[in-house]
Amino acid sequence: MTQSISPAFDFESRYADVHGQRMYYVDTGGHADRPAVVFLHGNPTSSYLWRNIIPHVSGQRRCIAPDLIGMGRSDKPDIAYRYADHMHYLEGFLEQMALEQVVLVVHDWGSGLGLDWARRHADQVAGIAAMEFIRPVASWDDWPENLRQPFRAFRTPGVGEEMIMDNNMFVEQILPGAVSRGLTEAEMQHYRAPYPDAASRKPLWQWPNELPIAGAPADVVERAEAYMDWLDTTPIPKLLFSADPGILLSPAGARQLAQRWPACELVELGEGLHFVQEDHPHAIGRAIADWLD
Ligand code: BEZ
Repeated sequence: MTQSISPAFDFESRYADVHGQRMYYVDTGGHADRPAVVFLHGNPTSSYLWRNIIPHVSGQRRCIAPDLIGMGRSDKPDIAYRYADHMHYLEGFLEQMALEQVVLVVHDWGSGLGLDWARRHADQVAGIAAMEFIRPVASWDDWPENLRQPFRAFRTPGVGEEMIMDNNMFVEQILPGAVSRGLTEAEMQHYRAPYPDAASRKPLWQWPNELPIAGAPADVVERAEAYMDWLDTTPIPKLLFSADPGILLSPAGARQLAQRWPACELVELGEGLHFVQEDHPHAIGRAIADWLD
């Protein structure tokens, strides 16, 4: 029987004080004897993205899912929202959680941040599950053809701000357009809620400007190249998900990586685009739970 995909977010709200700002997180608690599982979302989502996945895992592990600074229910300080700013807050959040060992489950910018954190804290990382993850893109010709024009425009000064901050295009169009089944109105309301006005959408606009495409921005390219090199050699167990056709990762590309990376299991989810958690939450949750076992 197919399990339904619920729009409800049934978790207790928690906040951590990180560098003087409140960061929202889900923490299911328990299982102190085993590595906690930390779920990291990307743009323009939040911990809400993991709502149907966490229940598959929380019976056997403590599950923690923060909202990145400026996103979801976390505070929105007046900062640039560059990659390094997000890392500063995420690093502070993870330090405060004081987890000896973690399993990271990463997607989109949650991967751009999480994989770099994992490389620099490898002795704390018990496993990595990745889906639709960020890696350096050599040229615009290698960026998905149907997204080339909008993403170039997002990175054009004056134009990107209008599209994403004024017109809310990342929430209203890019997000539902990258879910094969689309999103229901109830789900869209959850995703919209943190971004009621142009100023609140600054992080959503900055993120596409951080994508490591055609050598820029150089600081992000450097981090992403470093974690890609590290993934080629680290023996940390990995679980890689692919969707067909996917957006950042094709099924063929995922098969190549799964053969190349040490200790990597591949899960092919079937039809999906970028927000695979909205198309296949139960398959993803079950696969993570089985892999952790
Ligand atoms: C991104 O933020 O990297 C992204 C979002 C939607 C589709 C493709 C990429």
